[in-house]
Amino acid sequence: MGKIIVAIDGHSSTGKSTIAKRLAKALDYTYVDTGAMYRAITLFVLENGIVQESLDIDKLIEALPRIQLSFKKNGQSDIAEICLDGESVEAKIRNLKVSKWVSPVAAVREVREKLVEMQQQIGLDKGVVMDGRDIGTVVFPEAELKIFMTASAETRAHRRYKELLDRGDEVTYEQVLKNVQERDFIDSTRSVSPLKKAKDAIHFHNSDMCLEEQFERCFNYSQRVIEKAG
Ligand code: DC
Repeated sequence: MGKIIVAIDGHSSTGKSTIAKRLAKALDYTYVDTGAMYRAITLFVLENGIVQESLDIDKLIEALPRIQLSFKKNGQSDIAEICLDGESVEAKIRNLKVSKWVSPVAAVREVREKLVEMQQQIGLDKGVVMDGRDIGTVVFPEAELKIFMTASAETRAHRRYKELLDRGDEVTYEQVLKNVQERDFIDSTRSVSPLKKAKDAIHFHNSDMCLEEQFERCFNYSQRVIEKAG
């Protein structure tokens, strides 16, 4: 059976990665979390004094060739984790501090060029489910299946707030909502590869849809496309 590329794009905290991970498992495909790649670069930026009051874009561009990103499979979860210099940084990239700076970092053209090239290499043999903001528009405009996920900012902030509380982070709902809205704005209005729905993507508004229903729909879409691809 021919393999395809599944591109899942959408706003932050729409549940893209949860669905993408499950779908990859069900199809026996590789899951690639491109947001984790932008977050890992942001962690590097924070740990190396490239951000003080504001982001020093020249310093970031100069440091880019030294930032070694890779994915390594976690033996327990079977999910590929993002690594900086060979060390998994998965546990350090989901907090509000990284979330606050990741959108400005992701708006830098040179950062995007580096990561898009890596993403295209990973997808060369197809058989991937990749989630992000520009997968169906820039990384794989020819992807066989494109899904664009949306949900209201409030629904998404509630989901992310619960996740952060469950992890023991001290945050308020208002802080999380503000971050979600700010990231929506920066991600959708940046000049390089702004977040937008690809013309041929299936629009998936999931505010009122449970996870099971979302997964089943996405799985059915992919089965149909895979059958057609032969
Ligand atoms: O999916 P996420 O919330 O972990 O992504 C973090 C940020 O990275 C998001 O605010 C925008 C950026 N991003 C991007 O610009 N392009 C991608 N393909 C993935 C993420």
